[in-house]
Amino acid sequence: MARLFEETSLGTMTLRNRLMRSATWEGMCAEDGRPTAKLIDYNTELAKGGVGLIISGYAFVRPEGKQVPGQMGIYTDDFEEEYKKLTAGVHAGGGKIAIQLVHVGGQTDSKTAGRIPLAPSPVKVDQYAETPEELTKEGIDDIISAFGEAAKRAKDWGFDAVQLHGAHGYLINQFLSGLTNRRSDEYGGRIESRILFLLEVYQKVREAVGARFPVFIKLNGDDNQEGGFSKEEALFVAKRLSDVGIDGIEVSSGTGGSGDKGPIREKINAPEKEAYNLELALEIKAVVNCPVMTVGGFRSYEVAEKAVSLAAMDFIAFSRPLIREQDLPNRWLGGDHAAAECLSCNKCLGAGIKEGGIYCVSKKNRTGSKALITG
Ligand SMILES: Cc1cc2nc3c(=O)[nH]c(=O)nc-3n(C[C@H](O)[C@H](O)[C@H](O)COP(=O)(O)O)c2cc1C
Repeated sequence: MARLFEETSLGTMTLRNRLMRSATWEGMCAEDGRPTAKLIDYNTELAKGGVGLIISGYAFVRPEGKQVPGQMGIYTDDFEEEYKKLTAGVHAGGGKIAIQLVHVGGQTDSKTAGRIPLAPSPVKVDQYAETPEELTKEGIDDIISAFGEAAKRAKDWGFDAVQLHGAHGYLINQFLSGLTNRRSDEYGGRIESRILFLLEVYQKVREAVGARFPVFIKLNGDDNQEGGFSKEEALFVAKRLSDVGIDGIEVSSGTGGSGDKGPIREKINAPEKEAYNLELALEIKAVVNCPVMTVGGFRSYEVAEKAVSLAAMDFIAFSRPLIREQDLPNRWLGGDHAAAECLSCNKCLGAGIKEGGIYCVSKKNRTGSKALITG
């Protein structure tokens, strides 16, 4: 049997294969972050499609930690009923689901956050017009507690694991990066200090869920930005996390300010453009004792299978291919090894904002005219 489809484990959790749906904002929640029936059905369908582990879209742990419309929120007990239905749907479909916890820090605007955005330091990032406000020590403590409370809710409501969003320029990444963290207190300075916020979030989450509940992280292996969180710093952070007991590290790269080396690269139309974070993931794998996953541009069966068999990656994660084909894992398992149909055109993102939820716009437009399938 292909190594991709071996049953395997992540912490105490058993998974039916080595394929993960990387966290994907679906744009299907109410404005306050409450999941809708559409989101619940979407996740049930994903589970039926055969993926081993679904990682939810990024869920904000405090109201000001929100970035975009339709984003999931997990800052209140009020959403218990909806989340319980969501996790039950995934389990009925034979799958498992982790929730991705986020605070987006300075990568938002006052209208969405309901206040001036908060960040480690008052450093404006390219894509946002406002300069964020520097977090006080009390503000940091509040956010750390919110991560713990969110993780506890997730466990109580049937999630199988939690993933910290430590990548893509959001708050944890902002603390790790010397570009956005200019603090002179214990949270700033050298990487040995910039890691403190992340370690405190991890400890709080661990205390909230206990030793046996899987807690893992999505981490940039490199911000791909001059002066940003570097590969060497990522290796240091990954090793520390492994030493303190993290159950897995999913390696991504880039932030909104990384140009064509961002997290969601376009036009992955040749095998050599695939697996664009695999090298970074392998370097991390060499210094840690926990499972490592990688995400970014996996499209062909052969590239994915090689990454787990020859390169010994523990898991392969996909986002866009599963927006187009929710049943891609079952298709491959059934012997149809044709590459994922995703064109990496990123039109799914716009649909999520404007049309109340992501879907594959290119697939919908496929009316027999080749000209429409441009990616
Ligand atoms: C519509 C959409 C939503 C995304 N939402 C998230 C998210 O909530 N959290 C996250 O860590 N990454 C998010 N990503 C990034 C993906 O998880 C992934 O890292 C990236 O798309 C590269 O993988 P792929 O080539 O398989 O799509 C999103 C990507 C897309 C296209």
